[in-house]
Amino acid sequence: MKIMITGAAGFIGSQLAHDLWEKGAELILIDNFSYGSLDNLIFPDHNFSNEIIHMDVRDKKGIRELLKLGDVDYIYHLAGIAPLPDCQTDPQEAVAVNVGGTVNILENSRRCGVRKIIFASTNAMYENAEIFPTTETVFGLPSLIYPNTKYAAERFCQSYCDTYGMSVTCLRFANVYGPHIDCLRKQPPLVGYMIRELYYGRTPVFHSDGTQKRDYVYVQDLIDLAVLAQQGKGFDCVNVCSNHAYSVNELYDIAQELMGKQIPAEYALSQSYWKKYPQLYEGAYTIRSKVLEKEVTKYTLCSYEHAKEKYGWEPKISIFEGMKRSIDYEISLFEKIEKRKE
Ligand SMILES: NC(=O)c1ccc[n+]([C@@H]2O[C@H](COP(=O)([O-])OP(=O)(O)OC[C@H]3O[C@@H](n4cnc5c(N)ncnc54)[C@H](O)[C@@H]3O)[C@@H](O)[C@H]2O)c1
Repeated sequence: MKIMITGAAGFIGSQLAHDLWEKGAELILIDNFSYGSLDNLIFPDHNFSNEIIHMDVRDKKGIRELLKLGDVDYIYHLAGIAPLPDCQTDPQEAVAVNVGGTVNILENSRRCGVRKIIFASTNAMYENAEIFPTTETVFGLPSLIYPNTKYAAERFCQSYCDTYGMSVTCLRFANVYGPHIDCLRKQPPLVGYMIRELYYGRTPVFHSDGTQKRDYVYVQDLIDLAVLAQQGKGFDCVNVCSNHAYSVNELYDIAQELMGKQIPAEYALSQSYWKKYPQLYEGAYTIRSKVLEKEVTKYTLCSYEHAKEKYGWEPKISIFEGMKRSIDYEISLFEKIEKRKE
């Protein structure tokens, strides 16, 4: 079986690559390394860093040639600009990559006869949802740039399914955590950030009062569902979540306990979350503070009933086990980085 993964040097893509490699798949891995890293591609039993192709997902000719080389059965399309502030500060690039890149994958898949595409979408599109747990069918349209790029990309996926009879499953990921989670970028995801601050003995700064809760799903649970999603024809959207919401403070308590460190957190105003992005406060129209506040304090809780009914899937990894595995990996990465500095 031949499988292409875009965004393969990223947090989720790298581990999906490893999982599919273990299952015996022939892989074509691409990434432009705008966010991903070679470290993500090194596993104890295999090193993918010499196999990955440096390519932009928008490269029409490049993607076409890779697909033409042989019969690609499935494409996992994970390449994208994921950090919300990055999308908000450079919307043209966010749309070009997240929407344009997806259309490039769809159009080339159409021409080259790819069996099915599994697209990395997001539960961030439930930004304005008021029904919990949120199902795939009930939600208000999002306001921020990032979820709108994913929503638009989903629309193009459906367009290709309706117009050409192709098959695409859009997996709407909740907050994903686990080994390889980025802890080095400017605004790392929460779990990566708290592990990093604890490791270096620094005081983490959380926005709002830390009681805000979100749905978290462990990366291997996500991968299990992504593999099952090879089944099925036509267009579908499926939540990938745990139906368990954890607050920032609860996650931090778990991290402190597992790392054997106690560092009281500091709390900052929700509105100051994107202060590192001054462009949003410049120009004739500046970002509304109520939008920033809502994004920080937003509650998410999603239903996985559809995934359970269709694929018999349920998340298996407990938050303690998932956090432990995340911490073990991040500590080994920090040790590697420290050694390189010596
Ligand atoms: N991690 C989460 O909590 C989460 C939640 C919802 C959706 N998602 C989506 O899942 C996908 C993977 O997320 P992740 O957490 O692994 O993010 P990530 O940033 O670690 O991985 C994305 C990868 O895409 C690559 N990329 C970006 N632009 C590219 C381009 N133009 N051409 C080729 N490669 C490009 C990056 O270099 C990176 O390696 C993303 O599309 C993201 O939007 C993630």
